[in-house]
Amino acid sequence: MTKDLYELGDAPPLGQAPKRMYASLIRPERYGAPVDAFRTEVVDVPAIGRGQVLVKVMAAGVNYNNVWAALGEPLDVIASRQKRGEPQDFHIGGSDASGIVWAVGEGVRVLKPGDEVVVLANQWDETAEDIRLGADPSTSHSQRIWGYEENYGSFAQFTVVDEYQCHPKPQRLSWAEAACYLATAATAYRQLFGWAPHTVRPGDPVLVWGGAGGLGAMAIQLVRWAGGIPVAVVSSDERGKHCMDLGAKGYLNRRDFDHWGRLPDTSDDEAMAAWLSGARAFGRAFWDVLGERRAPRIVLEHSGQDTVPTSMYLCDNAGMVVLCGGTTGYNGDVDLRFLWMRQKRLQGSHCSNAQEARAVTQLVDQGLLDPCLSLTFDFEQVGAAHQLLHDNQHPTGNMAVLVNAGR
Ligand SMILES: NC(=O)c1ccc[n+]([C@@H]2O[C@H](COP(=O)([O-])OP(=O)(O)OC[C@H]3O[C@@H](n4cnc5c(N)ncnc54)[C@H](OP(=O)(O)O)[C@@H]3O)[C@@H](O)[C@H]2O)c1
Repeated sequence: MTKDLYELGDAPPLGQAPKRMYASLIRPERYGAPVDAFRTEVVDVPAIGRGQVLVKVMAAGVNYNNVWAALGEPLDVIASRQKRGEPQDFHIGGSDASGIVWAVGEGVRVLKPGDEVVVLANQWDETAEDIRLGADPSTSHSQRIWGYEENYGSFAQFTVVDEYQCHPKPQRLSWAEAACYLATAATAYRQLFGWAPHTVRPGDPVLVWGGAGGLGAMAIQLVRWAGGIPVAVVSSDERGKHCMDLGAKGYLNRRDFDHWGRLPDTSDDEAMAAWLSGARAFGRAFWDVLGERRAPRIVLEHSGQDTVPTSMYLCDNAGMVVLCGGTTGYNGDVDLRFLWMRQKRLQGSHCSNAQEARAVTQLVDQGLLDPCLSLTFDFEQVGAAHQLLHDNQHPTGNMAVLVNAGR
């Protein structure tokens, strides 16, 4: 962080909120390449509402959602908030944070100034009718992602979050390590353990797309922890070796295959035969890595359009493809014959609830899950960090930006 940031960031005494802060802002006129979309500006610190806490952000995690925010698609996050009546013409991203509770609002029950926390991005209205009627809060109609759908995320000196979003910071981690993992780890945890009866059991083969990425690195470790057999998909041998260091039984290099993209028209016999031959070759490669002729009981998906047809083909009978994103596009074609004849499940999954976030944080705290911090950036590099993610040029695992923490 620059000297200037420290000067403005001379925090008021614990328990008091500052009036102004530095933040990394996206504005509509800068939508486009992430490296140019973010710029440091000075803004008012938002008010602390009932049940909320002000967190002094020590470090922030870098996630794919603010690549989307920077691009202004598929959702123009600023316009969509303005439609809801919010006046701000800027977006402060950042859906992962480690920091210090600096001040607390009315009705806060557990947290107090000075507590060190990590923050889960998932927000909801605790008074929403569906939650009161027993819904998992993360499926509530009131659910939104802080630092993406909601403004004032962690790329700022201070942020305001709901108390239930905060979890104790694993003490063994640095600020940057603590900031980098929760969005990906909690999401992977829900994908792998949140959708009974399709939870990872000892001996279950699990296919993990993007095994060296943020979600993938967490997923490989979680599958191993549960006794499953993770097999990664990657785009280079170097990334594959990294996955094996994390616990993968082996890896498939997706560059060795070329049947990616949308499914051909199923009435086009020739095109379908060509596609099936690619998918079958991928399946045989999966058996080779696994060392036996078994299909993955669970496929952890987020790559989307390019890979969903293969995921649905490869997944075992009565198995589950569980999907939390669509990096390559949103037209996830499904050959319905595989779905019904083999009785498979295609399950959407989004972030996690507080219970899942706490469970995964405890695994990190106990040293059973490595946060996989690969790169740490200074505050002015928020855009550069997202550009790396956008270009798939980041090394492996998760990344963080230092905000109030020094190197
Ligand atoms: N819903 C949620 O709550 C939630 C939470 C976290 C993330 N997500 C979403 O999940 C996705 C991944 O996030 P992440 O943090 O893991 O990103 P990441 O660190 O960039 O990892 C994604 C991985 O996907 C792989 N990939 C890229 N293009 C691919 C393609 N055409 N086919 C197959 N694999 C491809 C890349 O690995 P290789 O090039 O090595 O194959 C890359 O490492 C993003 O779309 C993100 O928005 C959703």
